[in-house]
Amino acid sequence: MKYHPETAQDQAKYAVGRAAVERYAHDGARLGLGSGTTSAWFVRALGEKVEQGLDVVGVPTSNFTRDLARSVGIPLLDINDLDAPLEVTLDGPDEVDHDGDQIKGGGACLLWERMVAEASDKVVCIADDTKLVDQLGKFPMPIEVVQYGWMATRRSVTALLTDLGYVDVEIVQRSRDGEPVITDNGNFILDAHLLAITDKSLLDTQLNLIPGVVENGMFTGIVDEILMASPNGDTRLIELPHRKAARKPQWRTHK
Ligand code: 5RP
Repeated sequence: MKYHPETAQDQAKYAVGRAAVERYAHDGARLGLGSGTTSAWFVRALGEKVEQGLDVVGVPTSNFTRDLARSVGIPLLDINDLDAPLEVTLDGPDEVDHDGDQIKGGGACLLWERMVAEASDKVVCIADDTKLVDQLGKFPMPIEVVQYGWMATRRSVTALLTDLGYVDVEIVQRSRDGEPVITDNGNFILDAHLLAITDKSLLDTQLNLIPGVVENGMFTGIVDEILMASPNGDTRLIELPHRKAARKPQWRTHK
């Protein structure tokens, strides 16, 4: 079945997905495959190249992406079987700022997204141009929590956010059709409506120290490049060279 972008935003997502394939996919590349609708365009475009003979391997960041990648013929590798870093992971944001810091997890795939990014030499944020913001926080920040005691975890999250100066923050358990959203790891998602985030790194590190929190959607210090597109197909690349020097923790001891 052929998919076509319908809205202007979707056209931009389609354009950036295809541009990412042109820029980063080459024979022999081992790629992290992001999740969400932007990444889905990337995966479909990559599948077209694989059909034409391109030799790549992907590590998916969600069950949805795994199934999509399989359906378009992309060979997949289990993250456990990596013996060297992925060359590059391409993944979409819910919001990205000019430092390349992002809110992610709108599709509830934040844990695997962060793990695959961690296993990559380079991380490229692929975004339609509506995602670039001066200040993060308008998009509610997802927090993945274990089901056990999730309300107690929410109280701890509220206490931390209050300490950090966020007053009367609404933290909503994500649901769909009246049922709690369950992540690929069997966890719940809490969405924190922070509106304007001022202390990105502190939030990122402190949230994950709370027992019951599995991962948070404030992704700081991860992205090396932002590839953006507008609905007319124009693309631009924002390079963040300082990120490259600051990362690669997982493989440091292997070399
Ligand atoms: C999933 C994500 C997505 O990458 C993020 O929500 C962006 O989605 P989309 O490309 O559909 O706008 O973080 O957990």
